[in-house]
Amino acid sequence: MDKYVIDGGGRLCGSVRLQSAKNSVLPLFAASVLTQERVVIRDAPHISDVACMAQILKELGARVVFRDGDAVIDSADACSHELSSVLTGELRSSVFMLGSLLSRFGRALIAYPGGCDIGLRPIDLHLNALKRLGVSISERDGFIFCEGERLRGAEIELDFPSVGATENILLAAVKAEGRTVISGAAKEPEIVDLQNFLNAMGAKVAGAGTDVIEAEGVRTLHGVVYRPMKDRIEAGTYLIAGAACGGEVETVGVPPENLRLLLHKLRENGCKIHTKNDKIRLESSGRLQCNRRIETMPFPGFPTDLQAQAAALNASCEGSALIVENLFETRFKYVPELQKMGADIVVNGRTALVRGVRTLHGACVTAGDLRGGAALVIAALAAEGVSEVLDLTHTDRGYSGFSEKLKGLGARIRRVRT
Ligand code: UD1
Repeated sequence: MDKYVIDGGGRLCGSVRLQSAKNSVLPLFAASVLTQERVVIRDAPHISDVACMAQILKELGARVVFRDGDAVIDSADACSHELSSVLTGELRSSVFMLGSLLSRFGRALIAYPGGCDIGLRPIDLHLNALKRLGVSISERDGFIFCEGERLRGAEIELDFPSVGATENILLAAVKAEGRTVISGAAKEPEIVDLQNFLNAMGAKVAGAGTDVIEAEGVRTLHGVVYRPMKDRIEAGTYLIAGAACGGEVETVGVPPENLRLLLHKLRENGCKIHTKNDKIRLESSGRLQCNRRIETMPFPGFPTDLQAQAAALNASCEGSALIVENLFETRFKYVPELQKMGADIVVNGRTALVRGVRTLHGACVTAGDLRGGAALVIAALAAEGVSEVLDLTHTDRGYSGFSEKLKGLGARIRRVRT
């Protein structure tokens, strides 16, 4: 297992080339089996979650090759509707395959999905919505079996704007008979990207980005060459790293409105933020104030996927910050590791009180999940002395070229094989 060795305390300066959004590309891979024609996803990020999704498609009989950074998916020969627990257990996004396999084959058998250990993550909203489309579902021995030879459009009201459920419903609805209306839908930009992708394949979806999405079923979808949106969470991670270390960091490709609340919080910290079109430039003196309160919310609220990184930043700001995690129950697992670096953080259920210390110090810490791992890297970059961040399997799931990109900003970080 690899580790990062980080010599902290230096400033970060420069521009970061962003990857395509992980949370967009994963549902797009699932959507690619909705057609028998070739699908090309441009600039598919070199991350293990995408590799895992490619394996899932291959298990169904599709051909997936990565060529010049693009993923070329040909599912004409896909013939299986069954997914074993080996792959689905590794990746939460395997749940999207329910919607797309139902659309393609009228049936799906998948093992319960896995993913980051950040809470319960039930899939009741997905399953209830699929039932509304006429799918019959049985669950046995850790497997979910869905059957729906003729999916029919329906009015679906989501109790909570679940990103995954909204995407799964769309995947099942685009080829269903008639009209589907999802109310209380998630409004994340990645859902707009999925809508654009599906429409480029010939689907009739409208309303993504608002809380009512409508899909008029079509009989067939065709192949597409598509460039996904850039990764707003990756952009946010580098901006927060720049804030924590001091310096100037620029990201290109993510419109500021996709990170509106993060930028507001970074200004509150004392950073200067300049935006122009899809460019965001952050200037930080490295001596910042804590945010008073950060509360994670569905989009356009503060993203839960940037909560850990924001806590790492606040750990060495002046004052104290209250961080409230509303989406996932156990998303403070990185805290004991930050404490090894001298952070003063007290967790109480869904809240964490961060009291800023003057400086963090280097330590040997272990990444336990994807964003928690990124937070540890940020803390190590800002800390005085040398740190080791162990177990990179988590950060590899979501950040392509993490250490190279940070090196490009001037960070002293090495990836070491252990
Ligand atoms: C997606 C993102 C993830 C992000 C999350 C919230 C992808 C691949 N992953 O995950 O990075 O952290 O959105 O922005 O896009 N819930 C239920 N029942 C369900 C589904 C969800 O109770 O059937 C609950 C979850 O337990 C959680 C909340 O709803 O508390 C949000 O989950 P959801 O929006 O579905 O997140 P994911 O799609 O899993």
